[in-house]
Amino acid sequence: MLKKIYIFLLIVSLFIPLTTAFGDGLGIKKKNPKPHEFGDLILNNFSTKANRAPVLFRHWLHRAKYTCRLCHVDIGFSMRSGETGITESDNENGLYCGSCHNEKEAFGPTSTDTSGKDIKNCDLCHRVGKEIPLRNNFYEFRKTMPRERFGNGIDWIKAEEQGLIKLKDYLENISIKRPKIDDPAALTIEPHEKNMPEIIFSHEKHAKWSGCELCHPDIFGIKKGAEPYTMQEIFDGKYCGLCHGPVAFPNMDCQRCHTKLAQ
Ligand code: HEC
Ligand code: HEC
Ligand code: HEC
Ligand code: HEC
Ligand code: HEC
Ligand code: HEC
Repeated sequence: MLKKIYIFLLIVSLFIPLTTAFGDGLGIKKKNPKPHEFGDLILNNFSTKANRAPVLFRHWLHRAKYTCRLCHVDIGFSMRSGETGITESDNENGLYCGSCHNEKEAFGPTSTDTSGKDIKNCDLCHRVGKEIPLRNNFYEFRKTMPRERFGNGIDWIKAEEQGLIKLKDYLENISIKRPKIDDPAALTIEPHEKNMPEIIFSHEKHAKWSGCELCHPDIFGIKKGAEPYTMQEIFDGKYCGLCHGPVAFPNMDCQRCHTKLAQ
């Protein structure tokens, strides 16, 4: 056992420089984002060019209310920052952010106050570089959540299991009704490196947020071991690293995946 831990630590020390270089915060291009910034993205394909402040998108706030699947499959946001190419007219036509930011699910581009006057909400989204108070306070929210060490510092899995957050997986007029698919069993993934602790991969826990479509067939193929990959590729943002790093807990939390060591 001691020998195993020694080898593990040795391997960790080899990988640490790589995690700081590639591992985390790719979205907002910051090496070590603060817990409230982890998962934040700045959207600026068109805004600055159109004399508008760039748009802030906060994953923590949205993922506390909706599944990843709803946004990344039903609504169709890309899992690569900037790739969707959202425009304001898309939003006005009820696509992308406008699937929800339409005065029904969430605030729209304009609201009407009690006296019937129009209020423009542009700056709530087009806020980067401006001093506009946020509507939702991260640290107030986190106070009520089970904690983890990295990323947002929240154990999102427990939060969902304990009913502290309830995730919507369906939007009227956007989602289609899908038959319920049973989650396949958890898998043990054996790393190429023989002395590395194995990984328990829970289909049940992942499918709750991601359905099946976020991973199959694009990321992992359809058969166990069909597509070999390495830890380096995960650090580079592929396979597990597509989500773990930018939005799900980051790759420096080795033991949360290489769980056999923790036992
Ligand atoms: C309310 C909608 C919404 C929800 C819920 C959501 N996302 Fe996203 N996500 C987005 C948007 C918008 C983008 C940016 C797309 C673009 O720029 O084209 C994005 C981008 C990403 C990226 C790319 C980040 C980068 O740095 O390149 C990843 C990875 C991602 N999401 C994973 C997730 C995971 C995992 C979940 C669930 C835990 C999730 N998302 C939940 C809307 C959402
Ligand atoms: C729910 C968030 C949200 C709100 C509210 C919002 N926008 Fe946007 N807007 C976006 C996003 C996302 C983009 C695409 C960002 C990018 O890549 O530059 C965008 C892009 C734009 C652009 C860039 C050019 C184009 O046509 O796409 C303009 C101009 C714009 N918005 C104006 C407005 C105005 C004016 C308002 C208020 C009446 C407004 N927006 C409210 C999210 C929002
Ligand atoms: C699936 C529904 C959904 C989608 C899609 C969605 N949002 Fe939201 N968004 C919400 C809800 C609900 C809130 C919380 C409402 C509030 O703050 O009043 C929210 C809040 C926000 C806030 C307020 C943040 C704060 O704390 O001040 C911003 C900014 C925002 N969204 C931007 C976006 C942008 C930009 C997009 C598209 C790239 C987007 N949202 C897509 C549902 C959505
Ligand atoms: C977060 C990503 C992710 C999600 C979500 C996911 N899977 Fe998987 N799935 C995997 C990985 C990783 C493997 C193993 C692939 C490998 O070893 O190459 C796998 C393997 C499989 C296998 C092959 C198992 C075997 O023993 O050969 C099946 C079948 C499967 N998944 C079905 C599903 C179904 C059905 C869903 C939705 C309920 C789902 N998966 C959701 C990542 C995912
Ligand atoms: C589509 C996005 C996505 C992909 C791909 C993905 N995960 Fe996850 N994973 C998540 C999300 C979301 C959570 C919830 C926790 C969080 O967000 O921090 C999670 C949680 C976990 C957990 C914690 C489970 C627990 O019981 O606490 C482990 C372990 C894990 N993932 C391992 C993996 C491994 C190994 C792979 C690759 C084979 C992988 N994940 C691929 C999104 C993803
Ligand atoms: C999101 C889950 C996850 C996290 C976090 C994670 N790993 Fe891995 N790791 C994997 C998976 C899946 C494999 C299997 C790839 C393979 O076939 O070797 C793996 C394989 C490895 C291997 C085997 C050799 C190789 O390159 O594939 C080493 C060494 C390794 N990881 C080290 C680490 C270290 C050190 C950390 C922390 C800095 C870490 N891992 C964090 C999922 C993870």
